Amino acid sequence: MLNIALPKGRLGDQVYTLFAKVGYSCALYDDPGRRLVIENESGTARYFLVKPSDVAIYVERGAADVGVVGKDILLESTPDVYELLDLKLGKCAVVVAGQNGFREDRGATLRVSTKYVNIARRYYASKNRDIEIIKLNGSIELAPILGLSDVIVDIVETGATLRENDMGVLEEIVPVSARFIANKASYQFKREEIEAVAGKLKGATVE
Ligand code: PRP
Repeated sequence: MLNIALPKGRLGDQVYTLFAKVGYSCALYDDPGRRLVIENESGTARYFLVKPSDVAIYVERGAADVGVVGKDILLESTPDVYELLDLKLGKCAVVVAGQNGFREDRGATLRVSTKYVNIARRYYASKNRDIEIIKLNGSIELAPILGLSDVIVDIVETGATLRENDMGVLEEIVPVSARFIANKASYQFKREEIEAVAGKLKGATVE
């Protein structure tokens, strides 16, 4: 049996559909109630329903054998796991965004609000740009509107949040999609099982 950490929410639903398609459906998924652990009837998969940003922690520490996580989270927290496959789902990008008409003062320290502190630090360090990070946990777009920061570093998917807040993309940092990851020890002990799943997922993945 494979223990699979699945992100709850929109990405999780797409990921589950893919797993179901390759033979790991679980009757309880559609209505788990308040359950956080669900097992399929054939006993081949046990799903843990976790917060998307926690998937990598469960897999790194071996509580789950495998999981699915956004590349943004892998880049931000650099967990010690194997990244086996790009599932080509949940496509978006980490970008620098600002209010429409924003002009950067290159002589001043740039104030950047973000939940991606490490990605932002690395990006601006590579450009030798002095920044001050303002760490937020959500609704990042609000910060430039209220003058809390000059720009944001955040995920953009449809662009609707930026548009509806009179903001736009200034620079793209990195494209993002969902990745199938494995715990390093599990990969040794359950290699056949994990590679079989990865192979089937690869076959079912569409560009
Ligand atoms: C994310 C992200 C943006 C938004 C982008 O926020 O932080 O705010 O989605 O998506 P869009 O380009 O399709 O509009 P999320 O919904 O995860 O909520 P949060 O603000 O609490 O982080």
